[in-house]
Amino acid sequence: MKSTWFKAATAIVSLAGAVAASDVLPVLCPSIDKTIIDNVLPSTNVTLSWANTTDAVPSVNVTLEMSAPTVLLEAVASISNVDCSPNSVEVTFNDLDAFSAARGSWPEAGNFTLITNHLGDCDAELERGFFLVNSMSWCDETLKATAQAKSQTVAEASDIAEISFGGPAAAPLSKRALVLDPSLTIPVSLALPNDTTLFSYPPYLTVAADEAAFNAALTFSGYLKYSFLKFKLEDLYFDIDAAFDASVTLSASVAAGYNNTFTYATPALTYPLFNVPGIINLGPGLEFAIGAEVGASAAVDVTTEFGVALKDGNVHIDALNQASSSTSGWVPTYKAAANISANAEVEINPFVSLTVEVAIEVLGGMIDLSTGLSTKSTFTNDFLLTAGAGVDLTGVVGLDAQGQCSNGLAIKSDFDFDVDLFVTQFYNTKLWEYQAKIADVCYSWEQ
Ligand SMILES: *[C@@H]1O[C@H](CO)[C@@H](O)[C@H](O)[C@H]1NC(C)=O
Ligand SMILES: *[C@@H]1O[C@H](CO)[C@@H](O)[C@H](O)[C@H]1NC(C)=O
Ligand SMILES: *[C@@H]1O[C@H](CO)[C@@H](O)[C@H](O)[C@H]1NC(C)=O
Ligand SMILES: *[C@@H]1O[C@H](CO)[C@@H](O)[C@H](O)[C@H]1NC(C)=O
Ligand SMILES: *[C@@H]1O[C@H](CO)[C@@H](O)[C@H](O)[C@H]1NC(C)=O
Ligand SMILES: *[C@@H]1O[C@H](CO)[C@@H](O)[C@H](O)[C@H]1NC(C)=O
Ligand SMILES: *[C@@H]1O[C@H](CO)[C@@H](O)[C@H](O)[C@H]1NC(C)=O
Repeated sequence: MKSTWFKAATAIVSLAGAVAASDVLPVLCPSIDKTIIDNVLPSTNVTLSWANTTDAVPSVNVTLEMSAPTVLLEAVASISNVDCSPNSVEVTFNDLDAFSAARGSWPEAGNFTLITNHLGDCDAELERGFFLVNSMSWCDETLKATAQAKSQTVAEASDIAEISFGGPAAAPLSKRALVLDPSLTIPVSLALPNDTTLFSYPPYLTVAADEAAFNAALTFSGYLKYSFLKFKLEDLYFDIDAAFDASVTLSASVAAGYNNTFTYATPALTYPLFNVPGIINLGPGLEFAIGAEVGASAAVDVTTEFGVALKDGNVHIDALNQASSSTSGWVPTYKAAANISANAEVEINPFVSLTVEVAIEVLGGMIDLSTGLSTKSTFTNDFLLTAGAGVDLTGVVGLDAQGQCSNGLAIKSDFDFDVDLFVTQFYNTKLWEYQAKIADVCYSWEQ
């Protein structure tokens, strides 16, 4: 059999506009009550949150075990103003009790940390600042505390960071669009224009997508723990919930006597999910691809129609412990059909694949990895000339009284669905594999 192989991808589609990156801003964690005067007391355990302005629930929480006792200034209601110079932080109170509590608990000799979250001169806009205090001075009349201090990075100021991000588990596909932030759900819906030529190499081969449509919804959440003391990633896991469906009708015109390999792929499309400067930068890449392997023994036109849908695919990815990674769901529904125009041995194996890649950069590049999963559904359609000697017709449905296909042609169709997990620099593994025999029948070709 002469074989013509090609791989076509949906380079023409752009996901731009389909996905909105959401900017997160520093916010006070909702579990902290600003009016509690104890918030003014230095503690080595602080929680910092970030949220999209329209959300009540933070999409990123960072709990830091600080190297020195620390005051989160934004958590104190009676601090009315914070001003910085390169070497100082000036804190103004509007309440004598809080001022006195600070004066009584903030070490005069310094060696404690102030965290600022005030636009302007203390920290870059929309970021927080960490200041290690060297010495304090107090003014009872103005209720001002002035700290001589130097700015630090998160890594310098803390021993251990725990970062959790994302949101609740995926909602049903029909409701997904309503559950955007903070669940970090990406809804994607695309269709190729009808009759899009995917691959053309005249006069040998033309492949068109008569129709092609994809829909997907993906939700992310995750957790990591990093020790600055040991320079060690102690925990890192993600949950990705996915639903998708794809339906494609391909037609291929194959000229006999041609045999070559084509590869045509699109670069991954990446989107920043959120970026908390210096803490975490998370962006998924999504790649939809369609393609096929085609082989034919004679000039022939082939059409194939297939669809695959997945309602509920969940995966837990433990980057450090492969054995703890697991899936649930991932049972696809599918359909496939194919026709050929002439009596020829033909193989047409179309596939659709969706790759979700979470590129994650944590703590200003201390951890930089990508992890994700790719799903690939492949439909294998083999048209067999059954009249020839030695063709095994075991299991073929529709044989005539002579045990033959009366038209001399049979089709065998199989469906294959794989979910592969990859955590760059740690491991790659096949998480899930699903196979089904769709058809094994005598076949009559289109005249
Ligand atoms: C087609 O090309 C492949 C790879 O070059 C080769 O293995 C195969 O035998 C060729 N088939 C025909 C029919 O020429
Ligand atoms: C917050 O999320 C909503 C909906 O997801 C979006 O429309 C809005 O632009 C986001 N706001 C910011 C500041 O990113
Ligand atoms: C730090 O505070 C958080 C939230 O209040 C709490 O869940 C966590 O257990 C504390 N960690 C330590 C080490 O005290
Ligand atoms: C600062 O405080 C930390 C912990 O509270 C302590 O380990 C360190 O020795 C102190 N450094 C100075 C210079 O006092
Ligand atoms: C962050 O903390 C708040 C308050 O405890 C909680 O409601 C929210 O779900 C947390 N967000 C994440 C991503 O863990
Ligand atoms: C493609 O054609 C079908 C009918 O064959 C129609 O239902 C569908 O809306 C068309 N899609 C596009 C994107 O034009
Ligand atoms: C195959 O041919 C039959 C009969 O003409 C038609 O009903 C069906 O839609 C065709 N299927 C494909 C995938 O072209």
